[in-house]
Amino acid sequence: MYEGVDLSRVPRHVAIIMDGNGRWANARGLHRTQGHAAGEPALFDVIDGALEMGVKWLTAYTFSTENWSRDEYEVEFLMHFNVDLLQRRRDELHAKGIRIHFIGDRNDPRVPDDLRKRIEDAEELTRGNEAMHMVFAFNYGGRNEIVAAVGEIAAKVRAGNIEPEDIDAGTIAAHLYLPEMPDPDLVIRTSGELRTSNYLLWESAYSEYVFTPVLWPDFDRHTLAECIVEYQSRNRRFGSAEDLSVPPRRGGTDSPAGDRD
Ligand code: FPP
Repeated sequence: MYEGVDLSRVPRHVAIIMDGNGRWANARGLHRTQGHAAGEPALFDVIDGALEMGVKWLTAYTFSTENWSRDEYEVEFLMHFNVDLLQRRRDELHAKGIRIHFIGDRNDPRVPDDLRKRIEDAEELTRGNEAMHMVFAFNYGGRNEIVAAVGEIAAKVRAGNIEPEDIDAGTIAAHLYLPEMPDPDLVIRTSGELRTSNYLLWESAYSEYVFTPVLWPDFDRHTLAECIVEYQSRNRRFGSAEDLSVPPRRGGTDSPAGDRD
């Protein structure tokens, strides 16, 4: 089914930049938003494949802080699409034992109230699920995430709860949007673009990247398996000379790899 994948070494956390919806639509004479709509079945096929292969965390970039600069119609479409998708798909994810999380600035006044409410409801409903964690990076930006963490830490310093000299990488990691989320082992970007685009900046410090030319609506569980095969062919060294199968603790200073390169 998943040819070539070593199911005993599947990445624990796969994070995806779903890119190429606009180009997929343009090539068919469709509107860009129809490309986004075609991205939904791709995402849900990938969710099923990830679940079957034993991936424990899957993160998908559904709306970036930079996406607000797209034309008003497309922004409006993506906002409604996120609301609608949560409405239609939440119970299905719940039935599969998937826990839903959102990372990003959900309190931004531009985010509609009904979406914020649906996000909270979905997180609450699925809180006890353990089959897989599905993280939607929505109104997410890696720099914003770090800025928000620094702001929280600064407030604690001002209140006398943290001493500045005690701040280390673990302090930052503990103040990110979802501190319990492990760092991604594998980051996939579709559509042939070779950028990280502000995605999981802190968390992906030691991730393996796989870039595929496939446009997102054409991606599925089999393309995911191919990316995992590519990932499994790499040596993960975390800055050390040896291949290390165990990643350093997230953002911590107690890395088994010692000094990082
Ligand atoms: C990037 O393609 C994609 C997005 C900005 C939106 C991602 C949304 C989906 C894949 C649909 C699934 C949606 C949800 C809410 C789960 P692009 O528009 O930048 O494509 P282009 O680079 O070809 O123009």
